[in-house]
Amino acid sequence: MLHSATPNSDPDTSFQRNDPVSPFDTAPAKTGDTFVRHDPNFLNMVFGTDEVTPLWVADMDFAIANPIQEELLRLANRGQFSYEFNSKGVFAAISTWFKRRHDLSLDPEKFEQVPGVLTAIAMLIRELTEPGDSVLMQVPAYHQFGKVISTASRNIVKSALRNVDGSYEMDYVDLEEKLSAPDVKAMILCNPHNPVGRVWRRDELEKLVEIANRHNVTIISDEIHSDIIYTGHRFTSLMAVDQKKHVSVIGSPAKTFGLHSISNGYVYTGNEELLDRFKKTADSMYLTHGNAFTTFATIAAYEKGEAWVDALLTYLEGTVAWIDRFLKGELPSIRMSPVEGTYQVWLDCSATGLAGDELKATLSESGFGATPGTWFDQDATQFIRVNIAAPRGDIEKAFEQFKTVLDRIAEDRAKGIVPVDQKTCSRASTNSCC
Ligand SMILES: Cc1ncc(COP(=O)(O)O)c(C=O)c1O
Repeated sequence: MLHSATPNSDPDTSFQRNDPVSPFDTAPAKTGDTFVRHDPNFLNMVFGTDEVTPLWVADMDFAIANPIQEELLRLANRGQFSYEFNSKGVFAAISTWFKRRHDLSLDPEKFEQVPGVLTAIAMLIRELTEPGDSVLMQVPAYHQFGKVISTASRNIVKSALRNVDGSYEMDYVDLEEKLSAPDVKAMILCNPHNPVGRVWRRDELEKLVEIANRHNVTIISDEIHSDIIYTGHRFTSLMAVDQKKHVSVIGSPAKTFGLHSISNGYVYTGNEELLDRFKKTADSMYLTHGNAFTTFATIAAYEKGEAWVDALLTYLEGTVAWIDRFLKGELPSIRMSPVEGTYQVWLDCSATGLAGDELKATLSESGFGATPGTWFDQDATQFIRVNIAAPRGDIEKAFEQFKTVLDRIAEDRAKGIVPVDQKTCSRASTNSCC
């Protein structure tokens, strides 16, 4: 794997690579708490039943790394919460991580932090564009991008990724045309891409930047998944390509370390004018302070969580390999896009003959709690996204149940029987994460 550039000096030895039984095989119990992914109310709203293996919201079932937990316990046990700022410590920890893991030199002075990646994108859109302007996003897209653009009273312009034999590419002809429109002032890039799993190569980013620069469009690069990169692929931040104009919401411990509800959005740019404006706006709203738990968990994560991340990547890669074998052997009608990064896998179910509501009903019936593709692209009716950051046993059970129901539907069809009961699978419109 490319994810460890130098020997690991991490003191956490609880995660040995190649352990026959991985600590990721067991997950802390989730029942009865308020986690969205497991909440019966949400499950009923999304799947029409709470009897599903929830593989939808993009967070993790795994216990966090020991050093992070110890740091959080230290803070709780301290029993004192005075005003306490340490953004410098956070930016230094992220910069050191990026140099070691991604060979990218970042200047701790060029960061700002706000309470989340989506907060950062929402603010950047407002800095870069006026109401009535347009912001381009590539579809399929992480479904909050549409909301973050439209709730700022900006228009959404979509550029569809090209599906080339299951793998996705940017459509540069379409980008050239759409980015040249005078009202398009900004673009959201997702790298690595949720949901299709691409890790954009440097040459692809360079081509995009060349077009954007020619049309004076600023790219907001969402790099929240930057550390979930699989063998043979390498993460290139947009900041390694052109940081003079563009901006990255760079590195977030949310996805890397499973700190979804205790992390911030870290904005980075060498565009001094933009950074200055962004800092002033964030400061004027008192958004930059972080809080003690977020601050010290983030520092502990980047400084002491590396062994855990390496073990996580090995585990996730094993899960991808299992899914690949299972699909090829048991469900050849389902096709997985190459998983280069992220812990989402994107499955094309076209050959099952199921799409839209029928496919959603099949997910519900089989207890396979994957996200319907239409969340990410209204035309992706035959696709589903599966969050694989769960114990392998849960993933295996969900796929096996899906197969049982798909086999039965195929048999029924062969006998001329009308397909599945149409259970509802409405999108949770109140849901603002996932
Ligand atoms: C691409 C992407 N951006 C942003 C987020 C959410 O980030 P935050 O919770 O920091 O706002 C997610 C969560 O799934 C995501 O996949």
